[in-house]
Amino acid sequence: MLTPERIIQIGMGHWPARTLQTAVKFGLFTVLGDGDMTGERLRTVLGLSPRANPDFFDALVALGILDRKGDGPQAVYSNSEEASAFLDKASKTYVGGFLEMSHDRLYPFWTDLGTALKTGKPQNETKDGGAPMFDQLYADPERLEQFMAAMSSISAGNFQALAAKFDFAPYATLCDVGGAEGILSIMVARAHPHMRCTSADLAAVEPIAGKKIAAAGLSDRVGTAVIDFFRDPLPKADVITMGMILHDWDLDTKKMLVSKAFDALPPGGAFIVIEQLIDDGRRENAFGLMMSLNMLIEFGEAFDYTGADFKSWCLEAGFARSEVLHLAGPSSAAIAYK
Ligand SMILES: C[S@@+](CC[C@H](N)C(=O)[O-])C[C@H]1O[C@@H](n2cnc3c(N)ncnc32)[C@H](O)[C@@H]1O
Repeated sequence: MLTPERIIQIGMGHWPARTLQTAVKFGLFTVLGDGDMTGERLRTVLGLSPRANPDFFDALVALGILDRKGDGPQAVYSNSEEASAFLDKASKTYVGGFLEMSHDRLYPFWTDLGTALKTGKPQNETKDGGAPMFDQLYADPERLEQFMAAMSSISAGNFQALAAKFDFAPYATLCDVGGAEGILSIMVARAHPHMRCTSADLAAVEPIAGKKIAAAGLSDRVGTAVIDFFRDPLPKADVITMGMILHDWDLDTKKMLVSKAFDALPPGGAFIVIEQLIDDGRRENAFGLMMSLNMLIEFGEAFDYTGADFKSWCLEAGFARSEVLHLAGPSSAAIAYK
């Protein structure tokens, strides 16, 4: 029977989204990581109003993010297996950074999606003019740190999959352009002891990557470089990677970056982009398509793209061929060979 259930669920998607983002922002899952608690204890530790208990916690139970033993005031809440792995800050696989940034930035900016669609203009910090997005974001150390953590949390699973699935055997060096915290370089170097990697990014970001690389104990094989890819050529390497870089820019800038990657590679070298790559038919990867709307909100003319789009830009720049390698969830790598 035809029911409106799916439509209502999608249309009210901001309810579960905001419930989860708020729980992450409060550190609820990190608190529960230290031990199970009654609702009363949990709300006291989080500093919430009595009204929050038990609705907020039971909503998270019904959403399948928390577990609860028992009923009523004596009931005890605990993290589900998923929450323990991905939402407790003490976990190495924490992905809450992206949800924290969504709580503070993306969710409020998406209120103005209609304006973005009508004007084609960004609706983030740059909405009222001023400096470009990265300049504004990076002028505030706290927001820079939050953005970096958000990138690492959404990208780590993809980089792990790339390190496992792509054949790095024919190559010796890699440069990750716009490498943020250096996670891609760290993961590739860890999985492939013959590889030497460089994480290249703007000056404000370089020390952050340096610290992560040192903490990973990989400073002998993973280095950093300061670049502005508008001004500078890309460092030469057998493999050039760009994680969620091309989608930040308009078509001309995308093509300029593809061309700089071509110039930085030796014959046989590989240019790898990692994105929530849209399927060629533009029907299936809803996350990738909405990521593209997110790029409208963040940058205006920036957009996500398909493997076929990537191939056409790469062939135009002189690459010999390209292919798509699925990574994890909505994300894939598109690879062009020189
Ligand atoms: C969306 S983030 C992606 C981070 C990371 N590659 C990932 O996939 O998680 C874009 C990155 O591009 C960097 N970036 C922006 N403009 C740049 C420029 N002109 N030159 C070099 N890096 C730049 C930013 O600092 C940021 O780290």
